Amino acid sequence: MSQIKKVRGFQDIYGENAKKYRFVVETARRIFENYNFNEIILPYVEDVSLFIRSVGEETDIVQKEMYVFEDRGGRKVALRPEGTASAVRAYIEEGLYAKGGYQKLFYEGAMFRYERPQAGRYRQFHQIGAEIFGANSPLSDAELIKMVKDILDQLGIQTRLEINTLGDFESRKKYIEVLRNFLKERKDLLCEDCKKRIERNPLRVLDCKVEKCIEATKDVPVLIDYISDQSLQRFEKLKEYMKSLGISFIFNPRLVRGLDYYTDTVFEFITDKIGAQGTVAAGGRYDTLVKQLGGPDTPALGFAAGIERLMLLVEKLPEEKDLVVVIPVVSEFNIEGLKIADRLRKKGIKTELVLKEGSLKSKMKLANKMGGRFVVFASENPELKDMGSGEQERFENAEDLIDVLTEKVLKP
Ligand code: HAM
Repeated sequence: MSQIKKVRGFQDIYGENAKKYRFVVETARRIFENYNFNEIILPYVEDVSLFIRSVGEETDIVQKEMYVFEDRGGRKVALRPEGTASAVRAYIEEGLYAKGGYQKLFYEGAMFRYERPQAGRYRQFHQIGAEIFGANSPLSDAELIKMVKDILDQLGIQTRLEINTLGDFESRKKYIEVLRNFLKERKDLLCEDCKKRIERNPLRVLDCKVEKCIEATKDVPVLIDYISDQSLQRFEKLKEYMKSLGISFIFNPRLVRGLDYYTDTVFEFITDKIGAQGTVAAGGRYDTLVKQLGGPDTPALGFAAGIERLMLLVEKLPEEKDLVVVIPVVSEFNIEGLKIADRLRKKGIKTELVLKEGSLKSKMKLANKMGGRFVVFASENPELKDMGSGEQERFENAEDLIDVLTEKVLKP
């Protein structure tokens, strides 16, 4: 029979990688909680029109990357390609705006995009992300960026931060016309994708990575020259706050992002260490999206980071707890072994009870393989072996052994 394989673009995350996954999520979670964000657990399936109306009809995500299907009730649904749209939907649908003040939410979980798989790019990937609803001061932009930076710092990941401002929709519309005319004149110099983008989504030409497109748009007019004074002032304030926080950044006037909902601030944390897919965290402001999706006029902003990309950059995991391996010397002492293991675990000690029958020698081999720091031989007079020093001690009863062992493991 042929072996069933995982689907292209999907991954099993196990062993050391699963530890890195947890380390990333737990680190982010701790920081979100320190910044007083609350968790929201969002559904993986949404009405497809949510993404068409938020991410944007002409974006790559909606045009060619979404997993869309009809459920058995005939509803057209999509596996979520990102989390912001769902967070906005929930903010409106659950009436979170009525709670007053502002709302700070975070989430974690799988996203799905039918992209060409490569290192750092998968069809099911995972994000940690956060959104702030109801705050319009550039203070919130600065705080959000600082929080992302804190997460990266805690994970020991170095990146460069690029920022830009896209202004409001009105100014952007004006700029898009200028850009379109500029691009039309150079159409022949652009790649096939960018030729199509001139009509559909000309901003995307600005972050095309194809060499000839970069060359052809070297002297392109920049968006920042077309935005309102208000947007410019907000951008200046944000830069001032970031400087005062000691966060270094690069102003990249061509940074446009691949989703349509952004207004004003956009940012990306980028690394050169993991190949072409170097953006590890990204986000920005989307002040018109809540209204656009039927909610009250609410400024908002947020970010998301790709967990797999962060995992590729995590070099050091926190130290693990010492492992104690319990070996029943012969099967008559299996129950004794079960009891000792139970008592150790209740004390918070990481314990492996050897689950295989066999010779003492083969069980010791297993304990070694597992990296046991101590071995407990369960028998009438239980013994404790320190695998580091090789010392072995015999006890009258399990009680005494557990006391000594607890002292060694929990108070090293
Ligand atoms: P995004 O730039 O589409 O933004 O994705 C954010 C991050 O998710 C990327 O920087 C990258 O690390 C990771 N990512 C995206 N696609 C893949 C993939 N195929 N494989 C692996 N990792 C991937 C958003 O999703 C916005 N919702 C961010 C946001 C939140 N903006 C405002 N609030």
